Amino acid sequence: MDRTIDVLHGVNLDQLGRRDPAHYGTQTLADLEDAVVGFGRDLGVGTRFFQSNHEGALVEHLHGLRGTSGGILINPGAWTHYAWALHDALEITGVPAVEVHLSDVTHRDAWRQVSVVRDVCIGTVSGQGVEGYRAALELLLAHPA
Ligand code: DQA
Repeated sequence: MDRTIDVLHGVNLDQLGRRDPAHYGTQTLADLEDAVVGFGRDLGVGTRFFQSNHEGALVEHLHGLRGTSGGILINPGAWTHYAWALHDALEITGVPAVEVHLSDVTHRDAWRQVSVVRDVCIGTVSGQGVEGYRAALELLLAHPA
């Protein structure tokens, strides 16, 4: 396992398990992270995790990943739809990233259909729940580190 993938969760993702199960299922963030550890093991990579409800903390975390990360899976939560600082931080970081959403953001409210990080990511996976993180990891690993 010489490649380690950073799995980043933004605002309100720490509340999984209490959010609308129709969109987000019933699993907690800890359950999700356990599943992602398993997906990484299956695919031969290590995984490490970070979640914050503070945009600046996520921005600073991204800055620190420059040159040290083998790839990023990022679910920014609602920041996806308006947080241009995250767009810029992903660009500065210069690490290949895949955007992932548990729910199908393309068929929800109009404001959720906008993503300000999409153009600095190599791909997007949405609407596949926890399994979507496996698909996102596969997409990332198809891309050179
Ligand atoms: C989300 C979708 C966002 O619109 C929402 O604000 C979230 C979670 C998802 O995983 O489906 O918090 O990113």
